[in-house]
Amino acid sequence: MRNHTGPVEGGSRQHKSRLGPAPHRRRYVFNARPKAQVIYMKKNIIHVMEGNPTAEVNAMHNYRRALGQFATGITIVTALDAQGKPVGLTANSFTSVSLKPRLISWSLGKESKNAPAFLEAEGFCVNILTSRQQVLSDRFANGGIDKYEGVDWEPSTCGAPKLKGVAANFECRLHSAIEAGDHYMFLGEVVEYSSQIVDPLLFVAGSYARVERASAAS
Ligand SMILES: Cc1cc2nc3c(=O)[nH]c(=O)nc-3n(C[C@H](O)[C@H](O)[C@H](O)COP(=O)(O)O)c2cc1C
Repeated sequence: MRNHTGPVEGGSRQHKSRLGPAPHRRRYVFNARPKAQVIYMKKNIIHVMEGNPTAEVNAMHNYRRALGQFATGITIVTALDAQGKPVGLTANSFTSVSLKPRLISWSLGKESKNAPAFLEAEGFCVNILTSRQQVLSDRFANGGIDKYEGVDWEPSTCGAPKLKGVAANFECRLHSAIEAGDHYMFLGEVVEYSSQIVDPLLFVAGSYARVERASAAS
């Protein structure tokens, strides 16, 4: 709900007379009492939730916590905007979709200010971070700064920034973008890729994590 500060719906309650119902007496229905609201800030946007906000917030929190049990790597997905300026963001929604042809996907929140650039770009580059690149992950998850300042990169085949020193990168031609709820899901056809043998950065239960190899099952 972006900047949603619309009129507050009133609670509807029938006001019953102590004298009991009678056909000649008026029944009052009043809508004056506003529903409870929760106002919170997310990414510098004020959100106002109405209805049963505590239950909604708890339900969302529980759902996100359940999703967070799925451990992922961390990527920075990059592209060039219409002016040729590099854009990008930290994303852990990356996954392989098909081996033949080579298709991968990732999802972008519709409220990202980079959404128009990714929708218009002819391709993008997925950069998988190493365990030493947590600072880079934090930087590209921050919408309010020049993300590329001091970052070493070169253009990929479609122009999208290929970050140097990453665990792997996948240069992709845009295959399709699907509107999916509050996200766009991007499918990319891999045209080039490279990788090095190095530990990736992990993300699980809302925190960064490192690889610890399991010993053989006894
Ligand atoms: C570990 C991690 C994973 C993230 N994964 C995604 C993701 O898959 N898709 C997404 O849209 N945002 C994701 N984000 C949030 C974006 O990186 C963040 O909202 C970023 O500021 C968006 O930048 P923009 O608004 O400049 O596009 C993730 C953030 C972190 C820290």
